[in-house]
Amino acid sequence: MAIKKIAVLTTGGDAPGMNAAIRAVVRYALSNKLEVMGVVRGWWGLINEELRLLDHRSVSGIISQGGTILKTGRCPEFKTEEAQQRAFDTVKKFNIDALVVIGGNGSFAAANSFCTKYKIPCVGIPASIDNDINGIDFTIGTDTAVNTALDAIDKIRDTSTSMERIFVVEVMGRDSGFIALMVALAGGCEDVIIPERKTDIVEICHDIVEGNLRGKLSWIIVVAEGAGKAVDICKEITEITGLETRPLVVGHIQRGGSPTAVSRDLALNLGKAAVDVLLKGETNKAVGFSCGKNITVDFDAAVQKKELKVDKMYNLIKILT
Ligand code: F6P
Repeated sequence: MAIKKIAVLTTGGDAPGMNAAIRAVVRYALSNKLEVMGVVRGWWGLINEELRLLDHRSVSGIISQGGTILKTGRCPEFKTEEAQQRAFDTVKKFNIDALVVIGGNGSFAAANSFCTKYKIPCVGIPASIDNDINGIDFTIGTDTAVNTALDAIDKIRDTSTSMERIFVVEVMGRDSGFIALMVALAGGCEDVIIPERKTDIVEICHDIVEGNLRGKLSWIIVVAEGAGKAVDICKEITEITGLETRPLVVGHIQRGGSPTAVSRDLALNLGKAAVDVLLKGETNKAVGFSCGKNITVDFDAAVQKKELKVDKMYNLIKILT
């Protein structure tokens, strides 16, 4: 069946560059004579029939904006039969031939099961600050989030060095240590604690005390939120070393802000690639880049745990400290 009308939605945690992806999907689809509907609040919009027609001008001026003009949200209810049936009824009612889902790992898992069950052609555009889509190099928003976290670390470094203090900086990543590893390396941090690697706090304390004896009094330890809370780690370090340790939670500012050129360009390229996938009659795939080349990855593979080069990055961080 030829595709005439598509619907685009953003789901899960927002990521800087989602708007650029929406812009590319809308304008490229329109240039291919497709109609485009925007679904509001992710899966909720399909469940509750909240959609609007998107034209060329409806995506003007959003390329530099963080967040998503379509809004987004977590939707655990979408796992239920009843919610999926209502979403499917909306798809039928609005004569939608295919879906473009912009989101991360959880969004693609939901899209995979929903679209397979109801035989709806579907393509995924990977957008998540966690860089958690398997098989591709980067998700939209990762570069922006890493640079936001790095900016915080650079600023903490100034006060940490000047006042000779230890800081524990908590960055985002419930299941992934990607942001933590990237900023720990780029920020010249002394240590990093991530979910993918077992950490011995006593060993870190040993390094701190040894450093102290050599006259090194300022430390920045990065922790991914999935590996522990900055405030708890600070307490532990103080209890063991007797040294004052301060926590910083960078938090949700990592999800906002104007996307970097890297995040925008990725979003614009992948927006076009997603529409091409649907026009070719393919489905249940994520678009992405791998080693500089446009690729597609089946949803089944895309949602598998992405391997990080943990040892390589961790060793480099420690060697260069
Ligand atoms: O979008 C990914 C992410 O930012 C994770 O790094 C983080 O653990 C999670 O979302 C937080 O989600 P929420 O804002 O829904 O609490």
